[in-house]
Amino acid sequence: LARTTLSTLDRIKAQGERFAVLTAYDASFAAMMGPAGISVVLVGDSLGMVVQGRGATTPVTLDEMVYHTHCVARGIGEGAADAPLIMADLPFMTYATPQDAARSAAALMRAGASVVKLEGGAWLADTVCFLAERGIPVCAHLGLTPQTTDMLGGYKVQGKTDESAARIVSEATLLDAAGARLVLLECVPDAVGRAVRETVAAPLIGIGAGPHTDAQVLVLHDMLGLSPGRKARFVKNYLAGRDSAQAAIAAFAEDVRSGAYPAPEHCYG
Ligand code: KIV
Ligand code: NA
Repeated sequence: LARTTLSTLDRIKAQGERFAVLTAYDASFAAMMGPAGISVVLVGDSLGMVVQGRGATTPVTLDEMVYHTHCVARGIGEGAADAPLIMADLPFMTYATPQDAARSAAALMRAGASVVKLEGGAWLADTVCFLAERGIPVCAHLGLTPQTTDMLGGYKVQGKTDESAARIVSEATLLDAAGARLVLLECVPDAVGRAVRETVAAPLIGIGAGPHTDAQVLVLHDMLGLSPGRKARFVKNYLAGRDSAQAAIAAFAEDVRSGAYPAPEHCYG
């Protein structure tokens, strides 16, 4: 096993295989990821909900993201042979301009991230290009973008009309051309996932975006059955019937690689 880099992910995609992505926010869980077969660990701003107990991701600050990225990086360790790639979210309003984005991304990279993720469409093309030119790999997050749920009017499936589907595909294409090294698509019908997969060069990570992607991501607490309340359609509890978090994470990674996850009941058809 070798450390996962963006080249590893490009190669997996080129070979028509799939990789697993999972969130982590602390050292203990981060240490389980590589041995369980997770390729990318996302330090998501979902920590606003699952760690901080807030109702949204918008209150999460850059300092908090830096702190959790440090924790995750320590858990993974510098020398681990099977170390996953660390991706960290740029939180709400820390990338409103390219200059803001570069400063914020630098803080996450110093904390141990190798890729930064930001949410949005066409308006981010200049920012993605600005960061890429300065050596900061970017993941573009499209579809349902939790930082803008107030604008979207809640947590809803995106791209259900022909017009909104076409817009997601064209924005993904634009950000891919601007230099995004990964694209993440959240909560869209399968057909939109497939269309984006067919047009972007970067590896495509999906969450509730159907089976036609290069990778799948879930929030750790959701796939361990720890999140209270109504579950999103794409959530599967991998701890059910297993006796450890390590076994649950390994089963998720295996299901993503084999294509067993997501099953039709996890998709928006
Ligand atoms: O913050 C997060 O966990 C995310 C994933 C849901 C993609 O952005
Ligand atoms: Na996020």
